[in-house]
Amino acid sequence: MQKIRILGNNSLQLKGKIKISGAKNAVLPSIAASLLTEEKIRLKNIPLVKDVFTTLTLMKELGAEYNIKKKLLSIQVKTIRSYEASYELVRAMRASILVLGPLLARYGKAVVSLPGGCAIGSRPIDLHIHGLEKLGASITLEHGYIKAEAKNLQGTEIKFEKKTVGGTENLIMAASLTKGETILKNCSLEPEVSSLCELLAKMGAKIEGIGEETLCIKGVKELGGATHEIIPDRIEAGTYLIAGALTRGNIVLTHTQPKQLSTIIEKLKFSGAKIENINSHSLRIIGSQEIKPQDITTSPYPGFPTDMQAQFTVLMTQAEGTSIITETIFDRRFSHVNELLRLGANIEVSGDKSIVKGKTLLSGAETIATDLRASASLVLAGLIANGETIINDIEHLNRGYEKIEEKLESLGAHIERFRE
Ligand code: UD1
Repeated sequence: MQKIRILGNNSLQLKGKIKISGAKNAVLPSIAASLLTEEKIRLKNIPLVKDVFTTLTLMKELGAEYNIKKKLLSIQVKTIRSYEASYELVRAMRASILVLGPLLARYGKAVVSLPGGCAIGSRPIDLHIHGLEKLGASITLEHGYIKAEAKNLQGTEIKFEKKTVGGTENLIMAASLTKGETILKNCSLEPEVSSLCELLAKMGAKIEGIGEETLCIKGVKELGGATHEIIPDRIEAGTYLIAGALTRGNIVLTHTQPKQLSTIIEKLKFSGAKIENINSHSLRIIGSQEIKPQDITTSPYPGFPTDMQAQFTVLMTQAEGTSIITETIFDRRFSHVNELLRLGANIEVSGDKSIVKGKTLLSGAETIATDLRASASLVLAGLIANGETIINDIEHLNRGYEKIEEKLESLGAHIERFRE
């Protein structure tokens, strides 16, 4: 089992410059989109993280050929070999569900395992299924698998009952190859959704309203190859901004898009940090000696991202006063709290809220990571916890953070990965 050891201290100040990687949540749907054409898709700036390799394993099973040179992925699905995403792969990475829409639209058939339980609460996929059914797919659930078939999909109007990033992406991909016009309402506004639309447009899709809640997609008969650059990972950038604020550091982030971080930046500024744009893709954070408490409520983009909730909680353990963190996207997304308590934090969970009382001096301890962002929060806490923090089971961290130890070490942290 891989573990991480951090030698932290309360007076650590991280300093230096780091490059933000491509967005995990943008590359996964872009890879799935390659199922929509027999031509080659080239994706630049891909992050070399485990979720990408899990997706590529699935794509290979489906019939894709690919190679990666540095950070350029070339992928092509000339002929399909299988229509099935197995339980093993979907369980390892829920985003595997993103092959459902493209498989159905291009081949009229898909078999995808139901994701099942997940460390951050129940994560249904009913909205994906209802949307595809409205396009004319017939979908049954058998033996834990979604079996979807469609002879002739037909465009129609679909309104998502609630915002769903993956659901929006699945439907956009399916609608791109669906006869007629599909109007999607209440679509997610996350930059990763717009990035997927831009890739599809380069492939020949006819999508109007990119970046808006209503999308109008005129289906085409076939899509072609394209080259697309993956946008920067705003959650990775946000995590390093918190590292800067937490350690009263001075960190420059390059290869990022400050605009996509505006809600996080605003909250960090309210908490006392100074953040300045160096140019349109770089920014600097200077942490404050005194961190002010902040209440946050997670919500869909452009609101405060649920994927930053655990990390922000760690920052609030160092604020003088009480902060209320409200999680509205996922239920049970507080698995980091029990681990932070072991480091000495004072946090109480009540329903969809965690109430953080600060400031508490953290001390290193052995912890266990339970999901991707919870793992990142433990790394952050370990940086300022006095003494040694061990994080067990860091497989989750590998899913979404590229070279996190190297990046933090270059800023002055003492962090290493080891096996036991
Ligand atoms: C994506 C992100 C994930 C992020 C999440 C919310 C990827 C690969 N993952 O996940 O990092 O935390 O957005 O920003 O992009 N829901 C339903 N029925 C559905 C689909 C979703 O009820 O059919 C609910 C979910 O349970 C959740 C909410 O809608 O409560 C939002 O989920 P969704 O936006 O779909 O998240 P993902 O696409 O899985």
